[in-house]
Amino acid sequence: MSFESLMRPQKVLLGVGGGIAAYKSAELVRRLQDRGCSVRCALSRSASAFIPPLTLEVLTGKPVVQQEYLTATGSGEELHITAAQWADVLCFAPATAHLLARLALGLADDFLTTTALAFPGPVLVAPAMHEEMWAKEAVQNNVARLADRGVIFIGPEVGPLASGEIGVGRMSHPLTIVEAVASQAPGLSPSPEASTKTDLAGRTVLISAGPTREPLDPVRYLGNRSSGKMGFSLAAAAARRGARVVLVAGPVALETPPGVERHDVTTALEMESVLARWAGEADLIVMTAAVADFRPKRVAAQKIKKGQGVPVLELVPNPDLLSGMATTAPRALRVGFAAETENVEENAQAKLERKGAHMIVANDVGRSDIGFRSDENEVTVYRSRGPSVFLARRSKNEIADHLMDLFSEELHHRDHRPADTAD
Ligand code: PMT
Repeated sequence: MSFESLMRPQKVLLGVGGGIAAYKSAELVRRLQDRGCSVRCALSRSASAFIPPLTLEVLTGKPVVQQEYLTATGSGEELHITAAQWADVLCFAPATAHLLARLALGLADDFLTTTALAFPGPVLVAPAMHEEMWAKEAVQNNVARLADRGVIFIGPEVGPLASGEIGVGRMSHPLTIVEAVASQAPGLSPSPEASTKTDLAGRTVLISAGPTREPLDPVRYLGNRSSGKMGFSLAAAAARRGARVVLVAGPVALETPPGVERHDVTTALEMESVLARWAGEADLIVMTAAVADFRPKRVAAQKIKKGQGVPVLELVPNPDLLSGMATTAPRALRVGFAAETENVEENAQAKLERKGAHMIVANDVGRSDIGFRSDENEVTVYRSRGPSVFLARRSKNEIADHLMDLFSEELHHRDHRPADTAD
């Protein structure tokens, strides 16, 4: 990135889909402009039913492109090509199920989709639709296909939907979308009002992170590839939202996030005993740690020498810490992670039941772009209450924030349910 490109305003082409959340596009334009972006808008066929083009035209000071580009303009200009060359970032907000399907298929039947095909830079998408629609396999397949091609998803979030129900499908707040644009367009001015949710104030959140190491002798151990990044991102997100956060970490090389109380452990048994100190007080427990299922039965006091022949390793099972919490932390919302390489849904659903958890966050650790060590993840959350939620590939920090939305909504639900429905 050159000095010159850092100095010039970032150009954002905002594609507005035809859903009720389109009314928020006016606010989004303003917030992008607050950060020094130059914004132009284009509407899908039905978007003007939800937001008058004139509103966006006045805010941006530029004509808003609708369908008329398909009719002759007289100038001979190919608008979708010039728009694609002009923009630094292409952002679709809101993106309806129909718009996602058209983008996934590579259709080129209006200005938005032809521009998307002609645009070489980062494409961001903020979906908005009813929860049932979002959960549909057809929609999720399109989401996965787009994510595979590098499209960046922002939300959707949990919250009140147009139908009045609370669920997953709400378009992310314009400030969240601006932050996502900022991550793709370096050089934006700093946020004048960083969004700070405080929905976890007064809650105690207990999080485990990283690997465990099970010693064989003073220099060798059984371990795994967990870096702790996912758990540390969750701890940081919970602390930002006002929770008291206790983080129990296996051996990792990460800084403690601000405001987090950290306890380092090495083995699964140590992790179990440190977690037990806070389990009873926790409102929310999130087990991201990759806890070793087995440990060597005997730990040699001295380094095992080559000359003694090939040692036979006898293993014994470690306790399952998450399962144990159904007894030690019956009141807490208990969330596990599932590290899978195949049959992700089947295995995650089985873990939800077997471990007595309320949610299992499944990730495919067979992939190198997500899961262990990567800065990004892609997860599906299986819930004992409600449909599963897919969060397409994005940074672990963003995944953590979306997960905290889900956990916070569930904690809120538990606070208000009748006492005789508690589990
Ligand atoms: O740390 P990173 O590099 O950022 O990578 C993140 C991650 C891939 C480690 C994380 O996203 C993840 O998937 N964590 C769970 C790893 C795991 O051990 O999964 P599992 O499917 O084996 O276990 C299921 C759940 O039971 C987990 O919540 C685990 O913490 C828990 N468990 C497992 C074994 C055991 N003895 N006790 C447990 O409590």
